[in-house]
Amino acid sequence: MDRIELIFMESKNFLNVIQDFLPFFLKFKGRMILALFALIGAKATLVSVPIIFKYLVDHVSDSESATRLIEGLFHPEDKLIYYPIFLIVIYGVLRFLSTGFAELREFVFVKVTYNAVSEIALKVFQNLHQLSLTFHLSKKTGSLTRELERGIRGISTIVNFTLYSVLPTFFEVIFVASWLAINYEPFFAIIILSTIFLYAIFTIYVTNWRIMLRRDMNESDASANATVVDSLMNYETVKYFNNEEFEGRRYKNKLLIWQKAAEKSQGSLSVLNLGQAIIISFSAVLILLLAYSQFTKGFMTIGDLVLINAFLIQLFLPLNFLGVLYRELKQSLVDIEKMFGLIHEEPDIKDKVNFKKIPDVATLNFENVSFSYGDRLILKDLNFTLQPGKTTAIVGYSGGGKSTISKLLYRFYDVTSGRITYGGIDIRELSQSELRSNIAVVPQDPVLFNESLEYNLKYGYINVTQDNLKKVIQLANLDAFISSLPLGIQTVVGERGLKLSGGEKQRVAIARALLKQPKIMIFDEATSALDSKTEKAIQSAILTISAEKTCLIIAHRLSTIISAHEILVLDKGVIIQKGTHQDLLKSGGKYTELWRIQSEEKP
Ligand SMILES: Nc1ncnc2c1ncn2[C@@H]1O[C@H](COP(=O)(O)OP(=O)(O)OP(=O)(O)O)[C@@H](O)[C@H]1O
Ligand SMILES: [Mg+2]
Repeated sequence: MDRIELIFMESKNFLNVIQDFLPFFLKFKGRMILALFALIGAKATLVSVPIIFKYLVDHVSDSESATRLIEGLFHPEDKLIYYPIFLIVIYGVLRFLSTGFAELREFVFVKVTYNAVSEIALKVFQNLHQLSLTFHLSKKTGSLTRELERGIRGISTIVNFTLYSVLPTFFEVIFVASWLAINYEPFFAIIILSTIFLYAIFTIYVTNWRIMLRRDMNESDASANATVVDSLMNYETVKYFNNEEFEGRRYKNKLLIWQKAAEKSQGSLSVLNLGQAIIISFSAVLILLLAYSQFTKGFMTIGDLVLINAFLIQLFLPLNFLGVLYRELKQSLVDIEKMFGLIHEEPDIKDKVNFKKIPDVATLNFENVSFSYGDRLILKDLNFTLQPGKTTAIVGYSGGGKSTISKLLYRFYDVTSGRITYGGIDIRELSQSELRSNIAVVPQDPVLFNESLEYNLKYGYINVTQDNLKKVIQLANLDAFISSLPLGIQTVVGERGLKLSGGEKQRVAIARALLKQPKIMIFDEATSALDSKTEKAIQSAILTISAEKTCLIIAHRLSTIISAHEILVLDKGVIIQKGTHQDLLKSGGKYTELWRIQSEEKP
């Protein structure tokens, strides 16, 4: 019972998935209809081949016509000689047409499939970029690409199987059953239809059981392989401890598990094949018995017997693949469902439908802002203002919530309570894209694309002129570095930019942020990996550039923020001190303590 329910549920899933991806196909209604006609044409002609053959057999086996045929050879004017030749030619033409129609279907439909697949892939990709940081942090990147890849393969599988197996077989059964029902005893059609029904139920039932066995086998196979890899990678360690024999035993145990699982899986295949063979043979015997009795009663000719036999072979042969077909379809459904899950996934942070236009003045105000990641309260009741033309610095211990502030400003997250305003408007009332186009961030851990330096720099402003690019490279102190490279600005920076030193990466990140030319700049530990001399040079560049901008600098090294207009000291998510460097030194407290520690560190 539960299996039957399972099948029912699957068909519901099937409908859901079809509903998801059908719109991508329906754009090509003309092609779909033409392909369907070609498909029906292919099957109709294929089914006609044995029918023509039947007439030929009947003609040859009918002694009277045979005599007439021989006579006809001597009297060419007798039309009858042309009858079998005509049949043979038709036989050939139909055979060719069935292939022709099949190819036409392929030719017409291929564009539909590939177009739908690329559109769906693009849609998933675009939606992934719309989703919030929270979603991406909680997913492994590899698993996302795998879901996408499998979903796409699933669509091709479903389309191909439906178009090349399920539908054609369906039409074939209809054609054959109706031909038999119309021309012969209706029992033929009844037997064939019930055989197919029984066969399908049996196959699905056994295949569901086999899927579990196969999963066991695949898992034990993967586990055995992992053991081999792990063991060989630890080759030296194995030698150090003379554990070759132990390793051999470990692998042997895994192999034994795999062997048992494989035997079971193979055995279950035999159960499936035998069961199918019993159903088919039994039904073939029934049909032939019926045909024979009809023949003896004179209702059927030899040609009819040959035709029935040909139909049996033609119909039952594709049924062999039903198990594989069912398994693949099922797997594809799961994969496609997962992929469409990615399309249906809603971002946590969404623009309001009637968002407001962004104000001209980039004054940012934190009003009683608190924020927690899940249950963990990180920022508590913050109040401060960032003004155009002013540089504000945030200092404090690691883990205090400094980078989190910059993420709130960029709306990677929304505040838990309180609000952040931009020119007096809550940033949740603005569109994310407008807000973000006004802010440039140099993140604490800049990550670069695995492309050339030029590509990474231009990412800040894709249409930058060569002159401006050069200027920014100079400002970010990158010119000497770039000219020392054999490939210069065309050097590829490696995965995530790992072929650059920490400081070089930071300077690239600064340069591309400068290119964005925003109203607000956020530097999160942007110069932490630089030596003091380079840091000084870049600091002064940053100061000049940010003279008219709203600027937020997050820093550990206090020496870099002495000239800030206001310094906020953040401790465990609370602003404990505020003021200029001089004010803060005068008033004592945590800032003075930090300052003293850092001054002592200096040589
Ligand atoms: N996505 C996240 N999910 C859950 N907790 C997070 C997340 N990001 C940061 N945290 C936690 O929030 C706290 C504040 O992090 P944040 O990055 O703002 O600190 P920070 O002041 O910038 O520290 P540092 O000076 O080391 O850069 C940390 O304890 C961190 O573990
Ligand atoms: Mg940080």
